[in-house]
Amino acid sequence: MNILILGSGGREYSIGLAISKEEQEHNITFCPGNGATDLIGQNINIKDYNELASWAKVNKIDLTIVGPEAPLVDGVVDIFKQNDLTIFGPSAKAAQLEGSKVYMKNILKKYNIPTAAFVETSSQNEADEFIDAQNTLPIVVKADGLCGGKGVIIATSKDEAKEAVKDMLSGESFGDAGNEVIVEEFLDGYELSVFAICDGDNYVVLPAAQDHKRIGDGDTGPNTGGMGAYAPTPLVNDEIYQKIEDRVIKPTLEGMKKEDAPFEGVLFIGVMVVNGEPIILEYNVRFGDPECEILMPLMKSDVSELFYKGATKQLHNFKLEMKDEYGVAVVMASKNYPYSSSVPAEIIVDDIHDEELLANSHISYAGVTKEDDTLLATGGRVLLCVGFGEDIQTARNRAYALCGQVHFSGKKIRTDIAYQALKIQNK
Ligand code: AMP
Ligand code: GLY
Repeated sequence: MNILILGSGGREYSIGLAISKEEQEHNITFCPGNGATDLIGQNINIKDYNELASWAKVNKIDLTIVGPEAPLVDGVVDIFKQNDLTIFGPSAKAAQLEGSKVYMKNILKKYNIPTAAFVETSSQNEADEFIDAQNTLPIVVKADGLCGGKGVIIATSKDEAKEAVKDMLSGESFGDAGNEVIVEEFLDGYELSVFAICDGDNYVVLPAAQDHKRIGDGDTGPNTGGMGAYAPTPLVNDEIYQKIEDRVIKPTLEGMKKEDAPFEGVLFIGVMVVNGEPIILEYNVRFGDPECEILMPLMKSDVSELFYKGATKQLHNFKLEMKDEYGVAVVMASKNYPYSSSVPAEIIVDDIHDEELLANSHISYAGVTKEDDTLLATGGRVLLCVGFGEDIQTARNRAYALCGQVHFSGKKIRTDIAYQALKIQNK
């Protein structure tokens, strides 16, 4: 197939890498891709979606896969479908599940899907009433619109929560994205990322992953896009998966059909498991990054077939097979991440002589640029060292062994990826 992948991060690199390893050969194009994706396919840079659809027609693209949320919310799927192109992802309307937290919470409420008690409002008084009525702290305040993962404040006092509401409603903290806010109760549990690949009617659930969002070891410091992930996580069991299917995925797909916005694409379910019960924190409408970077290589079934069948309503004919192993991904970030950009730094990867490490690890490139054949670290999250093994400890040892072979000035990693899983396994 001729396959077009939209995006430029480690997530899109990992989708391309998995497809490039399939038995059947494919031609892969990234738009815009990064400084390393051109080793897997070609990079193009077309910003206008109508122009991109014309390019896809002329170049006989059989399948387009969309990585990030912004093009989905902006309607790239609608435009491609109007041009009779096959594209995997939700319509702009269905992408509101991520584009608007108010829309998402109202869908959860309307279809009785378990979520934190909340109020949605654009009135300070209404928010204050909800805050005053809470018996426990912290209290969570969220801006309605897309804020690049930064629109959530976990307030440790009622005054702080009210202040956060004020800053959002005034437009000071997040501009128009804060015109409406959600104030909700804090959920105390462990957080999982569950991905359902959906074709509007049917779905395939991938093994649950766990992300590490804070910059520092032990989950300290500011939130990031994610500093590492692993899968499958032993923090879920069949009972929890079943509850997620019955109480979350099925009613969401049924509900979205009733809303005239059938959900096609990746439903990323942010779950908090509280006393064995899955409660929904949020939906995203695309793969998580870094979760994607471990789930793609763990798939034994063809990734291109999964997405093609997802895009053409054939998921009832798809059999998911996963490799019988674990994956751990450690993000290597640049010096000033997540605060500001860092000066470009050359990336050097040592030759790896350990056969086992070579066969069971790889790099997924993200914020990199190529200049005269030199790979430079130019983004916040630069690359991921991904290790595999028959258990989490082995996979993790390999991911960290690979980290030791990769060098650039100012490189920064977390040293405790998968710690929660290892803690329960070592009990
Ligand atoms: P969101 O953008 O809604 O995923 O929120 C970002 C992060 O904030 C989540 O991944 C959670 O770690 C945390 N969070 C959001 N809502 C809550 C909540 N109600 N209780 C506890 N933590 C939350
Ligand atoms: N890893 C979390 C996200 O992609 O939003």
